[in-house]
Order: sequence, then structure tokens, then C-alpha cells
Amino acid sequence: MAKKKQTPLHRARASRAAPAEHERREKTPAEAAPAGESPKVKSGIPGLDRLIGGGFERESVVLVTGDAGSGKSTLAMQFLCNGASQYDEPGILITFEERREDIIKHMKSYGWDIEALEKEKKIKILEYPPHEVERFISEGEIIRDLISDLKAKRMVIDSMTSFALVFDNEYKMRLGVLKAIDSLKKWGCTALLISEGSVTEQGEVRDRFGIEYLVDGTIYLYNKRVRDYRQKLVEIVELKGVKHDNAIHQLVFGRKGISVEERSA
Ligand SMILES: Nc1ncnc2c1ncn2[C@@H]1O[C@H](COP(=O)(O)OP(=O)(O)OP(=O)(O)O)[C@@H](O)[C@H]1O
Ligand SMILES: [Mg+2]
Repeated sequence: MAKKKQTPLHRARASRAAPAEHERREKTPAEAAPAGESPKVKSGIPGLDRLIGGGFERESVVLVTGDAGSGKSTLAMQFLCNGASQYDEPGILITFEERREDIIKHMKSYGWDIEALEKEKKIKILEYPPHEVERFISEGEIIRDLISDLKAKRMVIDSMTSFALVFDNEYKMRLGVLKAIDSLKKWGCTALLISEGSVTEQGEVRDRFGIEYLVDGTIYLYNKRVRDYRQKLVEIVELKGVKHDNAIHQLVFGRKGISVEERSA
């Protein structure tokens, strides 16, 4: 029987789905973390780490999807700022959406001084306008060098929706997303990928491109209309291999950023 032709997508999927024999056993959290590093990467966002089993799994890639104004960028920036200032984990933001000056201004309103963190080489913002996503894709080496220069441990891409839109068909898009995820893992970063969700008839948020099927976990943020106001909510949908919380909680936007207010049982 003729052997079926292997496409790059098959190979990318196979390399993720079927590790070599010696890698096949599930790594314990302690084995997965390099010596001296905690197996968990704390977001430092009040209330969130408890919901996700103490923090994100090291080197995991988690999708944060939600509707407009639900707090995706704020959550991701807080993850980077806390990493830089509390956990000695520098981070890089790749933004296709918001302009660098706007991000700096927004975070200042919560008391975060991004420019100071940039001067200390603890945070780096790389801005690519939406029409330059292709340049970002071709600059993989530059980003890898920057990660090693900063010793970056955290990465945010805001957003994968802009990234996904440059591919002219779904097959190429999924291959491109898988390649980006594999690079992040290879570079030793724990990453949050932001994406714009669309709301289903049942009021649930879904990633527009099905990226949730390619990542290690998914968090949904909601900006839900309740009568005459909007309520911001957070839901941990999936975190592979982690015992996580399953309830939907309120996301509170306070003076120092966001926090999760747990629903009482
Ligand atoms: N200084 C502030 N204090 C309190 N809440 C704020 C402050 N700045 C912004 N917000 C709230 O944060 C929300 C926007 O958050 P954010 O930009 O993180 O959302 P987003 O999901 O990334 O939005 P988008 O889909 O437009 O990218 C606003 O809707 C507003 O309610
Ligand atoms: Mg945003």
C-alpha cells in the first residue's frame, strides 16, 4: 500500500503528539522545571494563582481569549510586570494591537512603570503594526536573541487573532500557530497568547480560529452585559494535566490592576 504523504502540519502535530520513547513518560512538575526554578510560574494576580493550581506550568502556552474590553491585555501585562518585579522573571510583550505608548499609559494608570522596567531590562515591548506580522514571523532569530539577552522567562503575544489573519488559509494558519508555539517552548518561555473571542448564542466565548485546540490551556474572559451594566468574568476552561478551578468568577478592576473575586460556594 502506498505510504500517505507527510505534510509539514502532520510533522508538526506528530512531533507534539508523539514524543521520543525516552520522553514518553509524563514529567513530574519538578522534573519539568530547570534546576533551581519553581515548577509553577505565578501570575501574581490576586486570586488567579489559586484557581490555576498555584501558577502556570513552566513552559506552558496558555490562550487567554475574551470579548472586547474583557481585560485580556491587562491580565497579560500584569503577568509580565509581576514576573519582572516580584519573581525575577523578565518578560517580552509582542503587540500587534495596541501601540507601545498606549500600553505604557494604560499600565501607568494602575501604577506600573513599564519604562523603568524596560530600562532595567526586565521587560521589553516589541511593537509590530498588524500589516507587519509577516516581518515578525521572519524575525524569529532576533526574538530568540532578545530572549537570551534579557534571560526572558515570560512572553505575551497580543494578539494571535492578528497573527492568524495573515495566513491565506486555515491549514497554513494552524501550521504557523503550531510553529510559533513550538518556538516559545524551545526558548524556555511560559507564554500567554491573547485572542479575540466571539460569543456564541449560549453566551460563551470561543476563539475565532480554534487556537484553543493547539495550546496547553485556555482561559476565557467575559465582558458580559447584565441588564444595564457589564460584568467582567474569568473562567479557567482547560489547563492540561492540572487540577484547576471550574467556576466562573468576577474579575475586579481596581486601582492596582485586576484581581479575581472568588464566587462563594
Ligand atoms: N485605570 C483603569 N481602572 C479601572 N478599569 C480600567 C482602567 N483602565 C481600563 N479599565 C477597564 O479595562 C477594560 C479594558 O481592558 P483591556 O484593554 O485589558 O481589555 P482587552 O480585553 O484587552 O480589550 P480589547 O479587546 O479592546 O483589546 C476597559 O473595558 C475598562 O473597563
Ligand atoms: Mg487588548
